[in-house]
Amino acid sequence: MTTRHHSLAKNKIKFLMLEGIHAKGLDEIRRSGYEWIVSEAQAPPPGRLAEMIEDVHFLGIRSRTQLTADLLDRARKLTAIGCFCIGTDQVDLSEARRRGIPVFNAPYANTRSVAELVLAEIILLLRGIPARNAGAHRGQWLKSARGSHEVRGKTLGILGYGHIGSQLGILAEGLGMRVIYFDIVAKLPLGNAEPRTRMESVLEEADVVSIHVPDTERTRNMIDNKALGRMKPGAHLINAARGRIVDIPALAAALRAERLGGAAIDVFPVEPKGADDAFESELRGMDKVLLTPHIGGSTEEAQQNIALDVATKLVRYSDNGSTMGAVNFPEVSLPDHASARRIMHIHRNEPGVLQAVNSVISKASINIAAQYLQTLPDVGYVVMDLETEDAPALVRELDAIPATIRTRFLY
Ligand code: NAI
Repeated sequence: MTTRHHSLAKNKIKFLMLEGIHAKGLDEIRRSGYEWIVSEAQAPPPGRLAEMIEDVHFLGIRSRTQLTADLLDRARKLTAIGCFCIGTDQVDLSEARRRGIPVFNAPYANTRSVAELVLAEIILLLRGIPARNAGAHRGQWLKSARGSHEVRGKTLGILGYGHIGSQLGILAEGLGMRVIYFDIVAKLPLGNAEPRTRMESVLEEADVVSIHVPDTERTRNMIDNKALGRMKPGAHLINAARGRIVDIPALAAALRAERLGGAAIDVFPVEPKGADDAFESELRGMDKVLLTPHIGGSTEEAQQNIALDVATKLVRYSDNGSTMGAVNFPEVSLPDHASARRIMHIHRNEPGVLQAVNSVISKASINIAAQYLQTLPDVGYVVMDLETEDAPALVRELDAIPATIRTRFLY
């Protein structure tokens, strides 16, 4: 593998931003002193992309651009990739790491959007709005207070008290709800929320259960027939997390049997690939179910937050070497670099590499002001602040260490 390094002036660093990345992201990069930004509204076809990325240092994509090992080979100057979205499946992450390229995304930029939608759904479900709305569309006038409730004083049960779950809890308390939650990790309760040590307790006590866990082996079909059977008669279920967490046939059966009062479902085990693909689900046609097309996190504000978040991470990596928030790379959090030269060395994680790096430096009688190292099983990343006037000579020597993937330095 070839080694690559750069210490380019900011106006020589090229950003290629594809798929119509929000202007907020481009503004942030420009504001940080980078002028060479090429942006395109579409995802180019692979052949054209291969040509476009040959001289690019930073690449911004969304979910439609597939970055394979072959394409990465063509991108000989590529320093980092920003996925301006939540998912990173479109990038071959380990191949990027092997080439010394960190990949950044924005996993939590749409937290608020999801929490707000769920909050609205809680109110709509407790008022029986889905069925009344469906009835009115058919000319029915279902005017009755029966089965309609205020949310004040009701119990919200949250499964998964992470970014979304905990924010939802705070918002729901603002409406006067009592909040209980279950998480597999001990989480500090916010506001007056109360933790439960078993998921079953949440299911048994809550008037509304809302799911905010990730899609893992353990959470697959976590809400099955048995779990649904534990919920209070007439309780409601909300899933805006991932489709495979709820057993949909079991949910449909519980709703038909009127064991549950209603449900709001945003994510499904199988979702249409695009607007031309029909949405199929056993829940279609059930008046008590609020169905939404996986739009929990889809707002203009979330798009802006995503753009700003990922652009900031790319700029920090370029300016300072920090890899915090990288999904495929050793994470090193760094103070701003001051008077010393900062040298960043990415290497295959083999025994003796750090020793080889340090011996190059000590042979040159250079003082190490600070050194930060993180490793993953295959790749290590060491950042050093060095008191030297001749960084290029040192970089040449570091490049000569056989395990070196890439060396970069900042003034
Ligand atoms: P997070 O990682 O901040 O929180 C997840 C929490 O679930 C963590 O506290 C974790 O410890 C807990 N957890 C994991 N396994 C568990 C289990 N078996 N039982 C109980 N707790 C468990 O994630 P965040 O950002 O809050 O997202 C939550 C879910 O929302 C994810 O599935 C995510 O994919 C989904 N999501 C959906 C969106 C949509 O458009 N509908 C948009 C954004 C996120």
